[in-house]
Amino acid sequence: MKTRSLLKISDLTIEELNSIIEDALLFSNEKKDWQFPNQYLVANLFFEASTRTHFSFESAELQLGMKSVDFNAETSSVSKGESLYDTIKTFEAIGYDAVVIRHPEDNYFEKLEEIKIPILNAGDGCGNHPSQCLLDLLTIFDEFGTFKDIKVVIVGDISHSRVANSNKDALERLGAYVRFSGIDEWIPDGYDKMSMDEAVEWADVVMLLRIQHERHSVSFNMSKDEYLEKYGLTKKRYARLKEKAIIMHPAPINRGVEIDSDLVEAPKSRIFKQMSNGVLVRKAILKRAFNEKF
Ligand code: CP
Repeated sequence: MKTRSLLKISDLTIEELNSIIEDALLFSNEKKDWQFPNQYLVANLFFEASTRTHFSFESAELQLGMKSVDFNAETSSVSKGESLYDTIKTFEAIGYDAVVIRHPEDNYFEKLEEIKIPILNAGDGCGNHPSQCLLDLLTIFDEFGTFKDIKVVIVGDISHSRVANSNKDALERLGAYVRFSGIDEWIPDGYDKMSMDEAVEWADVVMLLRIQHERHSVSFNMSKDEYLEKYGLTKKRYARLKEKAIIMHPAPINRGVEIDSDLVEAPKSRIFKQMSNGVLVRKAILKRAFNEKF
């Protein structure tokens, strides 16, 4: 069995990005009920909290006819000091065909180079979130039918966001323009910045991000109202968006901080569509992992 991990979006060629999106589109239509010819066994190891990624991977696994189990670090031998490598090597040894891993450490997968079963990265620290990036790409493609010349502004806590890193890499390679908006200290040097007032008139896609308080070393003190007014999507700014512009957010959302709560389900919002697309994309990622054909 030829296996393929998914660790970083930058590991995928443009052809591979497009192929996953094509498969995800097929899963939404004529291949809706398609299942693997073999019953694979997968373990979902979430060392950090998750709702969307965890349960959309699980939904994808079940829809594909896989058997899946959830790992709980607190009741496992991790609590006795077992390393990540030994934990994953154990899953390989006892017969699992693949592992899905979310872990707080950037690039945790560099310690797992000797593992032979596919590793599907469900987010590593502030590093990468390839399956989120792919579902974001699918959502943009669904809307515009292309990435070429699409203007995307990523707004908020860029420096702590694995979503921003993965999306910048993929979208620029696919021909989109990517700019950034938010507090200066949260936007890395060399990134193309703009104010939120400029952004709402420039962008086809406004991608909002949550403030990742759990990754900040210094606590953040600005009031919610002040942050929304200066850096967020208010109703006044929403009214100035282009006619065909869309709003995206990987979620979880801090309602009333990066976005006015009333806009979360506004006509231009694709936030819940992104979540539905997450299942399709994760089915395509699993299909690729086992090199299975339709
Ligand atoms: N977008 C995302 O990764 O959400 P979860 O943390 O709930 O998985």
